[in-house]
Amino acid sequence: MNLKILSTSYTGIETYLVEVEIDISNGMPHFTIIGLGDTSIYESRERVKTALKNIGFPLKPKKIVINLSPASIKKEGSHLDLAIGIGLLVGMGFLSDPFNILKNFLIMGELSLNGDIKSVKGIIGAGILAKELNLKGIIVPHDNLLEASAIPNIKVIPLKNFKDVISLLSDYSDEDIAINPPPKFIMQKFETDFADVKGQEFAKRALEIAAAGGHNILLIGSPGSGKSMLAKRVPTILPFMTIEETIESTKIYSVMGTLSPDTPLITARPFRSPHHTGTITSIIGGGRTVKPGEITMAHNGVLFLDEMSEFSHEILESLRQPMEDNCVSIARTGFRVTFPCNFMLVAASNPCFCGNLFEPSGECTCSQSDLNRYQKKISGPILDRIDLYIEIKKLKDYELLEEKVSEPSAEIKLRVEKARKFQNIRFSNKHLNSDMSGKELKKYCPLSLENKDFMKLSIKSFSLSGRSFDKILKLSRTIADLEGSKTIEKIHLLEAISYRKKILF
Ligand SMILES: Nc1ncnc2c1ncn2[C@@H]1O[C@H](COP(=O)(O)OP(=O)(O)OP(=O)(O)O)[C@@H](O)[C@H]1O
Ligand SMILES: [Mg+2]
Repeated sequence: MNLKILSTSYTGIETYLVEVEIDISNGMPHFTIIGLGDTSIYESRERVKTALKNIGFPLKPKKIVINLSPASIKKEGSHLDLAIGIGLLVGMGFLSDPFNILKNFLIMGELSLNGDIKSVKGIIGAGILAKELNLKGIIVPHDNLLEASAIPNIKVIPLKNFKDVISLLSDYSDEDIAINPPPKFIMQKFETDFADVKGQEFAKRALEIAAAGGHNILLIGSPGSGKSMLAKRVPTILPFMTIEETIESTKIYSVMGTLSPDTPLITARPFRSPHHTGTITSIIGGGRTVKPGEITMAHNGVLFLDEMSEFSHEILESLRQPMEDNCVSIARTGFRVTFPCNFMLVAASNPCFCGNLFEPSGECTCSQSDLNRYQKKISGPILDRIDLYIEIKKLKDYELLEEKVSEPSAEIKLRVEKARKFQNIRFSNKHLNSDMSGKELKKYCPLSLENKDFMKLSIKSFSLSGRSFDKILKLSRTIADLEGSKTIEKIHLLEAISYRKKILF
């Protein structure tokens, strides 16, 4: 008897169809799984065998061969257990499939030895694949139901154990299982808000510009000046995620297995803050069974590098290419995995070893050579990826005691969204001002003769490099968009320069 059950596997975050082919014949009793599986898949044989025995269906003494097709792609994980288990029950004649469920659903689930079905990773990708393949839907562990319910326009059948499998195969009714409705977008709720941040108007304005144009920003300031506080609030002023972004980000968290039952969908832009002692693999991605790193977890959101100068040169250097391409490619013998990583970088650092350089004179205890050494630490490999650089001083006591409530995030966000609308039309939703190519800069950032003269003067006075000049144009475009201005005016250039002139390159 030759039977085919549909399931999935994934490489990186890309899900693909796996056909579990089951051949049962007379001959020397034997049970083998072939098709480039890793150890967890070969252990599947023991789990399935024991689970079936414990629910009263011991394997018959037959020659059983299971092939996981396509055999050319390496498979990992325990999510194929359920497909193998169901296939064996049908293949050995314990159950039949009168309603053609096996042809119409992708099956995912891990088995425990008593036949219970345990949750697995990668459900979102499986659901999307089922839709692409025009299947009716997916059969999932009950614990994955919430996550699976987020996938629009497919049917989801949740199972707790083999009793459920038996009643499903013998008593299925197509009408009884509703098709998932389009996902409901829960309004993002943040525990933080810019309303909590007193003063620091210059920093808030810079963060608004950064959020509007997708620009990377570096905050330099004394300990306790509010750098982390400001950075954490950036997601609260970014536009709501689109359906595509939500599905993309959820796929990432789904294969990482970090979706919690209360948040089956990623609807709030991620904020990731890896520690400077983190390994390169945990930040960039990789490992034996290639996993996404922090930069991919930050996709569609914010990557916050606190104490940027403390990150190793190697880590900062390895961020350059992914930041350029908005994706990271990890090669292994015989295959390559690509993860998306389109994030906004917010970096923070102290200005010097003691941290008090910007505080009233006398507080900084660093010597000139200390300052020079620290400057070198900050001007590391990714400084040229930073568009805005701002210095933050600690608030004065009377400013901290101020009772006035600051502008809430929701209001800032409205302006950011308005500025993004111009960019979405300009670049057909492909990218933001920060990612303008040389050609686009010419097209969308023309300067009047008077402003050209002004920029000539600025280049000379501030010794601006070509790179800095381009960044000033991009920033000016965003500042003009925030104002709803079609043209870049001198006032926009002046403000953009104020975020660049301290960067020494
Ligand atoms: N502008 C502000 N408005 C309200 N509270 C503030 C402000 N600035 C700082 N604080 C208070 O000071 C605390 C410390 O701020 P935060 O941790 O953001 O500083 P930091 O610059 O990141 O310091 P470090 O360099 O030590 O990491 C905040 O949690 C907040 O309670
Ligand atoms: Mg901090």
